Amino acid sequence: MTIQIIQTQPFSDQKPGTSGLRKRVSVFQQPDYLQNFVQSIFNIIAAPSGATLVLGGDGRYYNREAIQIILKMAAANGFGRVLVGQGGILSTPAASCVIRKYQTFGGIILSASHNPGGRDGDFGIKFNTSNGGPAPEKITDAIFACSKTISQYRILEAADIPLDATGTHTLGDMQVEVIDPVADYADLMAALFDFNAIRDLLQSGFRMKFDAMHAVAGPYAREILVNRLGAPAHSVMNATPLPDFGGGHPDPNLTYAHELVEILYSENAPDFGAASDGDGDRNMILGKRFFVTPSDSLAVLAANARLAPGYADGLAGIARSMPTSAAADRVAEELGIPCFETPTGWKFFGNLMDAGKVTLCGEESFGTGSDHVREKDGLWAVLFWLNILAIKRQSVETLMKRHWVRFGRNVYSRHDYEGLPAEAASGVMQHLRARFSSLPDTVFGSYTVKTCDDFSYTDPIDASVSTAQGIRILFTDGSRIVFRLSGTGTDGATLRIYLEAYEPDPSNHHLDAQEALAELISIAMQLSELKERTGRDTPTVIT
Ligand code: G1P
Ligand code: ZN
Repeated sequence: MTIQIIQTQPFSDQKPGTSGLRKRVSVFQQPDYLQNFVQSIFNIIAAPSGATLVLGGDGRYYNREAIQIILKMAAANGFGRVLVGQGGILSTPAASCVIRKYQTFGGIILSASHNPGGRDGDFGIKFNTSNGGPAPEKITDAIFACSKTISQYRILEAADIPLDATGTHTLGDMQVEVIDPVADYADLMAALFDFNAIRDLLQSGFRMKFDAMHAVAGPYAREILVNRLGAPAHSVMNATPLPDFGGGHPDPNLTYAHELVEILYSENAPDFGAASDGDGDRNMILGKRFFVTPSDSLAVLAANARLAPGYADGLAGIARSMPTSAAADRVAEELGIPCFETPTGWKFFGNLMDAGKVTLCGEESFGTGSDHVREKDGLWAVLFWLNILAIKRQSVETLMKRHWVRFGRNVYSRHDYEGLPAEAASGVMQHLRARFSSLPDTVFGSYTVKTCDDFSYTDPIDASVSTAQGIRILFTDGSRIVFRLSGTGTDGATLRIYLEAYEPDPSNHHLDAQEALAELISIAMQLSELKERTGRDTPTVIT
């Protein structure tokens, strides 16, 4: 087995976005494209010789080919050991768990999360550091810089490693351990939650449905919910990961998880429904004919955290991304703990968790998690909800409505405009910025603008500054509209409009969010000139 040094030409488009490098499969299949990016990672992280790397992905199209390439490159770059999930599978939270548990140097996760898969879909890759979390911007920026000048990469000439059974292999001087991708993660969940209480709940006539959306969470849900907690096998649907996710869009929201939504809104609906995304880090929580917004879900978990054994001592603090509603802030205030507002993207939570400043984190984009790993975690959120329901024995709707009576309701919705021409989308943002100085004190119907800005964040731990993280229009009554361009889309530009209004009066808590937010929605259209600038006034996805 010889190490080959291959001469290569740089690509100019390998800039990691909100969560790693995501491109069409066909882009990754170009000769040397993946290799250049992987070598750029290895050059920048400069792992000591003999270091251990974790490797796995969400099983989407090109996962297996990419794993073989990365294994051979790791061997040629001096790694001593790679822990790879059986079949090349590791959910994103499980990868984070394995990186931490075995105190490895870090890991490479292959996923484009909730983006569609298959030959014509997306592929993605990111590096996570030894804390189990996504590499911070200073590392991803350095990887991008390296990718622009790279001239060679190292790869071992060797046969492929069989990935379908657990076991140990050698690749040059490196060991490859094919590990059970589920076991370590399932053990961690059993340590955090009251499995006995959940088992009792599931045997008490309580019915649930978990939709793995033909993606990576299937094997995890089967092992934990069915094998360890005794839920009937049909409680987990679409549980076999497929390279094209069954042709679906593995994003757990009301639009893309419609199969589950129809079941939960049917006549004979189960008591609880949940779904997760392509790589298993997102979650959607549903009750019988009831949708829990991710912002509310974070607040409910925070308010009831002590019911779960892993959080019985209480929370150090909570963090939420800026566009996420302030529902969790109200809980934090009552608990007397700090609440941090960070830019969009899980990587901003890592420093706060490492410093012991926060225990729970969440994003409005169906992401919730805690310091048990350094990624958001779909099944974790589902188990946390089940643990709370097992103790409280209330329906999801009752639990949520009682929460609103206590804390008030942050009525919330996000409108996405996908596939916009990039210039028109940035034109909308420019136009909004140009209005900053004239907006304060302007009255729009029943709302008056208090302030507006482009969100900027100074990390309280390392003082790094992230600017231009989304335009905020804040109103005097605490309501707000946020405009932001997506950093994960691969097709044109996606404009996200986040809408939030605070409603303290319980007699209005039954209102549908779109109804309750109607006036703010029309103000957003007026302010942004969206229709005039893009020709569009109907969102692609409403969550
Ligand atoms: C989206 C979400 C963001 C999340 C990211 C990765 O990023 O909005 O909250 O962290 O996916 O799952 P965006 O496309 O908005 O940049
Ligand atoms: Zn994901």
